[in-house]
Amino acid sequence: MLFKQQVLLRQKLFVLGSLAIGSLLYLVARVGSLDRLQPLCPIDGRFGPRSQDEIPLRALQFKRGLLHEFRKGNATKEQIRLHNLVQQLPKAIIIGVRKGGTRALLEMLNLHPSVVKASQEIHFFDNDENYAKGIEWYRKKMPFSYPHQITIEKSPAYFITEEVPERIYKMNSSIKLLIIVREPTTRAISDYTQVLEGKERKNKTYYKFEKLAIDPNTCEVNTKYKAVRTSIYTKHLERWLKYFPIEQFHIVDGDRLITEPLPELQLVEKFLNLPPRISQYNLYFNATRGFYCLRFNIVFNKCLAGSKGRIHPEVDTSVITKLRKFFHPFNQKFYQITGRTFNWP
Ligand code: A3P
Repeated sequence: MLFKQQVLLRQKLFVLGSLAIGSLLYLVARVGSLDRLQPLCPIDGRFGPRSQDEIPLRALQFKRGLLHEFRKGNATKEQIRLHNLVQQLPKAIIIGVRKGGTRALLEMLNLHPSVVKASQEIHFFDNDENYAKGIEWYRKKMPFSYPHQITIEKSPAYFITEEVPERIYKMNSSIKLLIIVREPTTRAISDYTQVLEGKERKNKTYYKFEKLAIDPNTCEVNTKYKAVRTSIYTKHLERWLKYFPIEQFHIVDGDRLITEPLPELQLVEKFLNLPPRISQYNLYFNATRGFYCLRFNIVFNKCLAGSKGRIHPEVDTSVITKLRKFFHPFNQKFYQITGRTFNWP
């Protein structure tokens, strides 16, 4: 009898223990999923002494998930009023360049407690249909934030679209503009790789990069090919300079953001007049991905989606040499205008 009671007691203890462990695991998973929705900076003393610019813990908790929910329109009016949340027009925009590392830059800047990212590319200024919907439509696409935070959006098509500089100027003539660039030939191949993947997915045929980048009639670089044109950075920048002084731009080295992101991010913090809050702790190298990933806190981290960091097809070296030679004078001009020199061949 006594033995039977002991067995029953053990069974009860086992069930209770399992329930407790199960609940604990659920809680951990739940908080984790919230974290993945919006990156979070570590909130303890890792960033050094607290300054006046310190964002209250509340703000960080919102970055962790609630802001995301609010952005999706789930916030009640009461919650918005209570937390003083607003949807703000961006104070800075990552205008390009496509395949330069625009997503990585946005996600990494979002680690800063004073920055709130617009998760989707909004395509307000480059898409006539969206632009016709008006600035209030654009503002409503922005995430909720505290008034002292800054909103950043990225739409790389802005850099190359004719009408965009004037439209952005009309919204805010003192806005800060971020351009992330990579060595132009590598960027063009990355651009090609992305389009190729899309074509392959739809079972469509597609030409080799060499055939697109070099005009078969002249054997010269094909400047009609979009991936080539986009990499002529100076041509596009010159259009922007008709509206904005060069001081309103910051050029990010996309190649360095891959290998050594922190110093690049620190330069951006400075440009945006933000206190330095992104630290090495927030960035760790993931050998499997071959890229830096983001660490939000001791438990939660995330890497960029698999569509970032594709393997490029091999390209004929003579074509690479030809392209590099072609881009060279444009690169020199770009260095001269921006005051930032890269070691591009
Ligand atoms: P590849 O796919 O050619 O490697 P964008 O976000 O503008 O489309 O840029 C994509 C590029 O971001 C990728 O190009 C990749 O090299 C680069 N990148 C920079 N930092 C990265 C990171 N931490 N994780 C993944 N990709 C990153």
